[in-house]
Amino acid sequence: MTIYEIITKKKRNAELSTEEINWVTAGYTSGAIPDYQMSALLMAICFSSLSDRETADLTMAMAHSGDMLKPDTGGFNVDKHSTGGVGDKTTLICAPIAAACGVFVPKMSGRGLGHTGGTIDKLESIAGFRTALGYDEFIGNVRKAGLAISGQTGELVPADKKIYALRNATATVDSIPLICSSIMSKKLASGADGIVLDVKVGDGAFMKTVPEAEKLARLMVEVGTRAGRKCSALLTDMSKPLGRTVGNALEVMEAIEALKGNAPKDLHEISVSAAAEMLFTAGKGTAAECISMAEKAISDGSALEKLREMINLQGGDPRVIDDYGFFPKAKTQREIFAEKDGYICGISCEKTGIISMKLGAGRLTKESGIDLSAGIVFEKTVGDYVKKGEKLAVLHTSSECDLAEISEEFRGVFRYGEKQEVPEEKNVIKIIKGY
Ligand code: URA
Repeated sequence: MTIYEIITKKKRNAELSTEEINWVTAGYTSGAIPDYQMSALLMAICFSSLSDRETADLTMAMAHSGDMLKPDTGGFNVDKHSTGGVGDKTTLICAPIAAACGVFVPKMSGRGLGHTGGTIDKLESIAGFRTALGYDEFIGNVRKAGLAISGQTGELVPADKKIYALRNATATVDSIPLICSSIMSKKLASGADGIVLDVKVGDGAFMKTVPEAEKLARLMVEVGTRAGRKCSALLTDMSKPLGRTVGNALEVMEAIEALKGNAPKDLHEISVSAAAEMLFTAGKGTAAECISMAEKAISDGSALEKLREMINLQGGDPRVIDDYGFFPKAKTQREIFAEKDGYICGISCEKTGIISMKLGAGRLTKESGIDLSAGIVFEKTVGDYVKKGEKLAVLHTSSECDLAEISEEFRGVFRYGEKQEVPEEKNVIKIIKGY
């Protein structure tokens, strides 16, 4: 077997055997296969694709390239993963809800990159909150509180670290089988019994159309199910920013408000649906019962108490729950006003994410710093009628950025219309179950 033969096979759209896939994955991870040959293979995969069997094999080979964890929490462990969006603070809401209802949630999360946010950055806006837990402490906290959220611990999927970096540099990210194997290898290696995937769809997401998102969701569910996990996926809307805030501290405040029962409709619906799916996966009841349980955990305050418990256990300042003055506050706030009368018919989601990044809330490279106070608070949303001069949003920043230029750019994210183009209120577009 040589890498040259394998590249040639894939270039000619032939199916690779399990042995070939295992051999390439191990060879690239160890350094025996150089970047230029792996790049050629990845590009061939982008053009020729992979069968479902090949994708499952690649996922398993990648998962086994490092530690295969088995969280010993004493209960059924459920993980949740979002494919990434703008204003997506769902994990901070659905994980405490699920824990409050008796599910164990050992959740390893990532940082934001590019225009999408990451849960670890958001949590770091809570003073003292530790996001780098050792594995024993991570599992110990799940045993005590039912949930812990940490960055990756241990040596998890080294194959993905290398392949993902190479894909980023060689324009080979946007391949459904490669995205599936990247995400699912990490989910399988982290060892949860149940996996709930939130596949975002729309202008602010990786997958821009429902058919594309559905294809990815079905493939991930199939791979997770074949690997013996209870796996399901929600397709959720990302055609406008989720909720009313974008940016780290601002989003944590909105998540706390959501747990106090004050979420905007889209955020509430998606968070409750994800939490209910986590409960259903753990066998807590019928679909309808799981929705009621999730709603109750918000209305009786038990989910908020779970978040407080997690913040305490991870060394964060729990006063943030009751007093938002303990969050980092932006030095500058710039109000943005409507330029004409009309209905807001759309808010460009990807552009909003990029503007939030320019305000300092995101990083252009994994290494760059981040302004935890930065971001955007929307006062108006899609479907609202506004009069010229009415406040639309407030931009927050503590960074040295060109606020005049950013404000001008931000005005362009709003699309106005004379008629109310009532958007189809479909926040959860579809649920795909593998069991
Ligand atoms: N997130 C991942 O972890 N991998 C991908 O390929 C895409 C999104």
